[in-house]
Amino acid sequence: VRLLVAGLSGQLGHGVVESAGDDVELIPLARSTPRRAAASRIASALGAGALAERTVEGDVTQPRWGLSDEALDELAPTIDGVLDLAGEVDWTAPDHRLFAANVLGAANGLECARALSSRGGGRCRLLCVASSVHVAGGRTGRVPEARLSPDPDRTRYETSKWQGEEVVLEQARGLPAVMVARIGGLLGNSASGATTKRNSLYLLADEWNRLPGGLMPRFGNGRVDMLPRDTAGAALLRAVRAALAAPEEAPDVVHICAGESAPRTDALLALARSLDGAGRLAPIRSVPVPGRALVWASQNAERFTSLSRQRGNALTGIRYLAIDRTFERDRLAALIGDDLPATSAEQTARLAFALPEAEPRPVGDPELARLSE
Ligand SMILES: NC(=O)c1ccc[n+]([C@@H]2O[C@H](COP(=O)([O-])OP(=O)(O)OC[C@H]3O[C@@H](n4cnc5c(N)ncnc54)[C@H](OP(=O)(O)O)[C@@H]3O)[C@@H](O)[C@H]2O)c1
Repeated sequence: VRLLVAGLSGQLGHGVVESAGDDVELIPLARSTPRRAAASRIASALGAGALAERTVEGDVTQPRWGLSDEALDELAPTIDGVLDLAGEVDWTAPDHRLFAANVLGAANGLECARALSSRGGGRCRLLCVASSVHVAGGRTGRVPEARLSPDPDRTRYETSKWQGEEVVLEQARGLPAVMVARIGGLLGNSASGATTKRNSLYLLADEWNRLPGGLMPRFGNGRVDMLPRDTAGAALLRAVRAALAAPEEAPDVVHICAGESAPRTDALLALARSLDGAGRLAPIRSVPVPGRALVWASQNAERFTSLSRQRGNALTGIRYLAIDRTFERDRLAALIGDDLPATSAEQTARLAFALPEAEPRPVGDPELARLSE
């Protein structure tokens, strides 16, 4: 399978590259800068080699992702699907940047997939757009893998991701099919911990020792839905492959996240402290704050005060730890089978708080072991 992929240099893109097997060939579409060609930017993000050599220059904010007729003609005979992982994920970015990458980028991706399909005799049969589970806005309870209605509780970022979904699903007709993959929070690589981004739980980890008065909100029934990036990348590729095999039956929305296995935030934070043998995490006092207040504050704080990018993102990150909801994965299971992506609370805590793996130790007290012989 050959996929044209925008956004490979990002966190999710790294996860896709790390988990792609020999059965998938990725063709990166990347921006150039005045000083650096697209291929050289991919080489510095993902290493020199075949991937960098295959890179196509483009920009998702341009019609057909900026691909010329010649470039489209060259790609069309071999491209099976288009994957849009490009996005603006700075939750505090101005509206025009959120709109350009998250809404226009998705719409242009559909135009690009259609142009490839018509020039390649229908070989390109899928556009998969990475969205976010957080398009659920302030919604609690079970969140279905389905189109969602307008919601005044969405942040500006969430609104841009929701509009990006709507613009492609609204226009989807026949082939290429359109599948929106809503991604949960992303942690670094499951084995190395390598991460290109420190959002959500990472921001809490970074701010931990600077919390005013050592006070941490109590998250109540809030859950933290995050997966290591390679775990998410592997599930995404499985979903894309399955959708390519039967594009007419592909679901319009799937959730690539921890779903019902996501731990409660308070339990995860308690676990992180108990795993912190070196005592790096300062003692905290947790104070009850209604979940609804955290959701409101994260949506509205910028109306009253100007926050740095770090602080603004930390506040939004708290929102994603405070809401009691479960992202359904039934349609994902129907597509890829029951072996759904998962991580343990311990792995999540270790990756987010950079806690080393425990040394294997004998069970029980070795001093007493000789007495039982
Ligand atoms: N990270 C998360 O926790 C998370 C959670 C849920 C959903 N998601 C979704 O997953 C997707 C990827 O997120 P991420 O965390 O991987 O983001 P990221 O690390 O910020 O990467 C964004 C990628 O998009 C590319 N890009 C941005 N604007 C572009 C443009 N105009 N033309 C071409 N490429 C462009 C960037 O390329 P450059 O190298 O040129 O900047 C980069 O490769 C987004 O849709 C996001 O909403 C992420």
